[in-house]
Amino acid sequence: MSVFVAFEGGEGSGKSTQSKLLYERIIAEGFSSLLLHEPGGTSVGEEVRRILLAERGATGKKSSRSKNSTMNSLTELLLFSSARSELIEKVIKPNLEKDTIIICDRFIASTIAYQGYGRNINLDTVENIINVSTHGIKPDLTILLSVDPDKALDRVNSQLSLLDSVSNPVEKENPRLDVEGSRRFELESINFHKRVFQGYKEMSKDSSWLTIDATKSIDEIHNLIWDKIQMLIR
Ligand code: TYD
Repeated sequence: MSVFVAFEGGEGSGKSTQSKLLYERIIAEGFSSLLLHEPGGTSVGEEVRRILLAERGATGKKSSRSKNSTMNSLTELLLFSSARSELIEKVIKPNLEKDTIIICDRFIASTIAYQGYGRNINLDTVENIINVSTHGIKPDLTILLSVDPDKALDRVNSQLSLLDSVSNPVEKENPRLDVEGSRRFELESINFHKRVFQGYKEMSKDSSWLTIDATKSIDEIHNLIWDKIQMLIR
């Protein structure tokens, strides 16, 4: 039987590091695993990801800089959901029947936190769209790497400040928080990130969630996660 684990948290919470460490540990212990991220993981999903995370429009010209930044919130919700629908049908569903541990770096809780709490889209609407796009498939365990957005954004800023283009004044004003250069969400206001964090805190009251203080060391966090995973698979 498969186990489905989702990693959640705000920007700079260390999800990608921890999901990769967990994947490597599972493989090293002799189990089968699959590491996915959202949005993405299919060819359509990766194209949708580019639209969702780019600040600029398809032309890439300076004059269209604000194009994707001003995307309508409902459009955004539907795009995340369409990428997810592909991932569910093409990857997650077929693997749910196998003896494998599916790890997903972000899943439905990101949509509730970012589009529901962050963008203020009605939560019932968000949940209805999620149900349509996932056919009700939910993770067995959601791991929240919890860190106050003030601290997290500071941390990512200082880690990446060396990568900043010092000659570009826009880069100086908004230090890049994402090495891949897709920063549409990182550039949102601190209040947006605080609403997202609040959403996560509400959802994490559910018994299928494990909340970990993301300011702990990488090893400590990994060990807490591994303890929990062992309980699920043995
Ligand atoms: P990504 O570069 O994968 O960043 P991270 O390392 O923070 O996961 O960017 C994904 C961004 O998309 C992230 O800012 C959160 C946002 N997002 C949503 O707003 N809604 C969603 O449903 C998902 C899956 C992600």
